[in-house]
Amino acid sequence: MIPAGFVRLLSQADILSGAKAVADRLRPQIKPGATTFVAVLDGALFFLTDLIQELAMDVKVDFLRVSSYDGGETSGDLKLVSGLMSNVAGADVLLVDDILDSGKTLAFCTDYLKSRGAASVRGVVLLAKERPRLAAIEEPAVGFHIPDRFVIGYGLDWQGRYRHLREIFIKDAEKETPR
Ligand code: IMP
Ligand code: MG
Repeated sequence: MIPAGFVRLLSQADILSGAKAVADRLRPQIKPGATTFVAVLDGALFFLTDLIQELAMDVKVDFLRVSSYDGGETSGDLKLVSGLMSNVAGADVLLVDDILDSGKTLAFCTDYLKSRGAASVRGVVLLAKERPRLAAIEEPAVGFHIPDRFVIGYGLDWQGRYRHLREIFIKDAEKETPR
């Protein structure tokens, strides 16, 4: 079930073609057997899977889990909940997240990966909200630029729900509560 007030933004086919387009753009910079994809749990799990399957190259995979102190929709100050299992010292890392919003998550995870000795860190996101960033980040590889409204599905949750949906739904602008 889709919650009231959400409309479909991207179909399964749209998402897969976005993942393929990103994979095609990244391919020239991938070093088989050496490049490490680090996905930000929980949301980036779905995109990571499709992305590396579309790439069809021998890459390493690891995970980070972060949470924000304020626990709200927007990222406040972040903390690391679970770190890497592998050693990324000297490695070229592709940092994968589901969505770029304020940029704080990518900035925080990039700092962490660099503190672990990563030789390079490049962000990769399926979605990027069109809004000012609140953290200084290099623009990642982006699948789709989307309006600055809340989205769910394909790993993206609303209070822990709706991650399983195969399609991505966006909050309908007309149903937005006026402030
Ligand atoms: P940022 O740190 O503000 O860039 O936010 C990125 C993180 O917030 C992502 O890893 C998502 O988990 C979460 N997030 C941001 N916007 C949305 C959204 O519209 N739906 C679901 N999760 C979101
Ligand atoms: Mg997240």
